Amino acid sequence: MDYLEIEGGHKLSGEISISGAKNAALPLIAAALLSNKPVTLTNLPNVVDIRTLLKLLEMLGAKISHNDTTAVIDCSNISSTKAVYEIVSKMRASILVLGPLLSRFHECSVSLPGGCAIGQRPIDLHLKAIETLGASVNLEQGYVVAKAPKGLKGDKIIFDKITVGGTENAVMAAAMAQGVTEIINAAKEPEVVQLCQMLNMGGAKIEGIGSSKLKIYGTGGKPLEFKEPIRVIPDRIEAGTYLCAGAITYSKISLNNVNVEHIQAVLDKLEAMGCSFDIKNDKITLLPAKELKGVNVVTAEYPGFPTDMQAQIMAVATIANSESLIEERLFENRFMHVSELNRLGADIWLKGNIAAVKPVKELKGADVMATDLRASSALVIAALAAKGITRVRRIYHLDRGYDRLEEKLSSLGAKIERKKE
Ligand code: UD1
Repeated sequence: MDYLEIEGGHKLSGEISISGAKNAALPLIAAALLSNKPVTLTNLPNVVDIRTLLKLLEMLGAKISHNDTTAVIDCSNISSTKAVYEIVSKMRASILVLGPLLSRFHECSVSLPGGCAIGQRPIDLHLKAIETLGASVNLEQGYVVAKAPKGLKGDKIIFDKITVGGTENAVMAAAMAQGVTEIINAAKEPEVVQLCQMLNMGGAKIEGIGSSKLKIYGTGGKPLEFKEPIRVIPDRIEAGTYLCAGAITYSKISLNNVNVEHIQAVLDKLEAMGCSFDIKNDKITLLPAKELKGVNVVTAEYPGFPTDMQAQIMAVATIANSESLIEERLFENRFMHVSELNRLGADIWLKGNIAAVKPVKELKGADVMATDLRASSALVIAALAAKGITRVRRIYHLDRGYDRLEEKLSSLGAKIERKKE
């Protein structure tokens, strides 16, 4: 099994380019199922999760040509509407095929998902949304079997809780439904916005994009058509992760291809810790703090501080000069990085969903284990600042979502190497 060996204590410098957003690309790939003509997606990140979803679409009968950053997906000859356990169990986001398959083919069965073990992560809200649009839903041998023989019908979906994937599934289901669907308490994440823009271009009319109330005028069964290539937005979590790598090593680094508006909440917290930024169009330069200060963070839905950045900012906070309090409000079990950070010499205490990060003078290299995607990147960040050698194991988590991580970090001067056990 591969692991990363990192020699900490080196400053970073230079610039790298941020890849397309995995979490934006996944629903765009699923949305290709709404068309019977080829769809071209560009600026895809070269990560395992993208290949997993493309594989799933291929198993359904899609014809796909894919190189590192571009995929042409042709769903004109879909031969199966069953998303099998072998794929769905690898990646929770596979559930995103539920809405488009049901909307276009009026029936589908999708295995209950797996993915990062960061809490219960139910799919009840996804199911409630499609039921509201008239589908019958049954659970049979670990599969969600959904049927709407006469097609889906627009209605009012009210989400009790804000859900990114649930909103994405609901808008894709509504896109080819008959009539108008309203979604109340919709997620406003940039990834949801890009999906809505794509569906708009394809022939479904969506109002309220970027707000918590979406109105979708379905095409009444007509497949969507995406004439122009769609360029995936920059990955805001990848950008935030590299900014944390720069912050913890007191380094000046620049990132190209960043949408600064999308990472404002992260910039605000890094500023509170003493960092500053020079921003020119889509390029951001981190100017390191003189001395990192403690910070209080509460995760929230967009535009709040992203839960996907909670582990990374915690890594930076470990060597600040005062205590930080970090509260996780989205996922109940998203603190698995805490014990591993403590192995590196951090002093973090957990009480319920709050982590108290007490300041330590320095981190020290150790063997640690990656537990989920973002937790893994937090360990890499900590390792960059830790004295001596750190080995991060189980990095298949990282490969799911970070495009050429060690290559990008090496180009910034980090001493990082992928090795085999
Ligand atoms: C997406 C992101 C993930 C990010 C998360 C929150 C992708 C592929 N993944 O995940 O990286 O951490 O948003 O920003 O885009 N919930 C329910 N019932 C449901 C669905 C969700 O109770 O049916 C709960 C979840 O357990 C969680 C909260 O709602 O507590 C938010 O989850 P959600 O926004 O759905 O996350 P994902 O779409 O899975």
